[in-house]
Amino acid sequence: MNLRRRCAAGSRAGPSWAAALLVLTLAGCATTTPRDAFEAQRLLGRGVNLGNMLEAPREGDWGLYAQDDYLRLIREAGFQSVRIPVRWSAHAGEEAPYALDAGFLERVDHVVRVALAQQLVVVLNLHHYEELMDRPAAHRARFLALWDQLARHYRDWPARLYLEPCNEPHGALDDQAWSALAADALRTIRAADPRRIVVLGPANWNTAIHLPYLTLPEEDRRIVVTFHYYEPFAFTHQGAPWVRGADAWKGTAWSGTREETARIGRDLDRAAAWADAQRRPLYCGEFGAYREGDPDSRERWTYFVARALEERGIAWAYWEFGSGFGIYDPDAGQWRAPLRDALLP
Ligand code: BGC
Repeated sequence: MNLRRRCAAGSRAGPSWAAALLVLTLAGCATTTPRDAFEAQRLLGRGVNLGNMLEAPREGDWGLYAQDDYLRLIREAGFQSVRIPVRWSAHAGEEAPYALDAGFLERVDHVVRVALAQQLVVVLNLHHYEELMDRPAAHRARFLALWDQLARHYRDWPARLYLEPCNEPHGALDDQAWSALAADALRTIRAADPRRIVVLGPANWNTAIHLPYLTLPEEDRRIVVTFHYYEPFAFTHQGAPWVRGADAWKGTAWSGTREETARIGRDLDRAAAWADAQRRPLYCGEFGAYREGDPDSRERWTYFVARALEERGIAWAYWEFGSGFGIYDPDAGQWRAPLRDALLP
């Protein structure tokens, strides 16, 4: 809105100022095209994950479809970005050339287009490629072929679309294997799209403590580094059916005691210090507390972590919009206001 007004004002200027104003105006209009990774990270600001939709085996399998209206709601609530997890590996050939399914690609394009039209910054990732975690060497060619296709496909899309090659590498895709594969993925993307912002995080499920083991190509400065934060895990994942032993954690509260807050502060300080030393911008691409926790504790934790990230200049995306961690209740068609407000006070 402001931007549009500024652009219109530029066109009314006299001829002697025309050239200078045109340059300034274009610079103003282009504020959403990141000059460097630091600006790209600032544009991410506060975001939310469109989880349990396109990274389900098939969209809808986990009860949610990526509806256009969700992106409007997200924008109107005041978020600046959205992270879109996608299970590309379930929509591509098993044999070379590992062609992506055209219909599925069109579906993802649609969701990304709607998000961009809402002026959101978009992080499009590759999620739940479980076979790659089990057998990285056997799946290397397929993984790189997916990124070759995706990088070519999106190369002319707006710069506000960032690509994240792999969510939470783990298992046999350990620190060393992942650093090597990440460099290969980066090389593949760069061959098609040298300036695209790429989001990369460490192995061991993108945990902050593994940041020091992530080796990135020194010369590539269009990278935003990501990590995920779910500590204390027994609190955020109590009762989570996909975590073994999580039922025993039910009833774990988070009261925001000095000890509890100091622990989070220490973890984030360490991540921020690493990023500083590496001259890389940081993005917490996932944090959240599962619905089994008591509401007060979840709101307190969410508020505290979001502020602690912001105090350290770390952009973030809450996990996730409308499912088990959700800030929105899709059945009621309503925000879970206390959680949303904890993120966006
Ligand atoms: C996984 C989700 C999980 C979340 C929290 C995400 O990266 O894809 O399945 O709910 O982390 O554990």
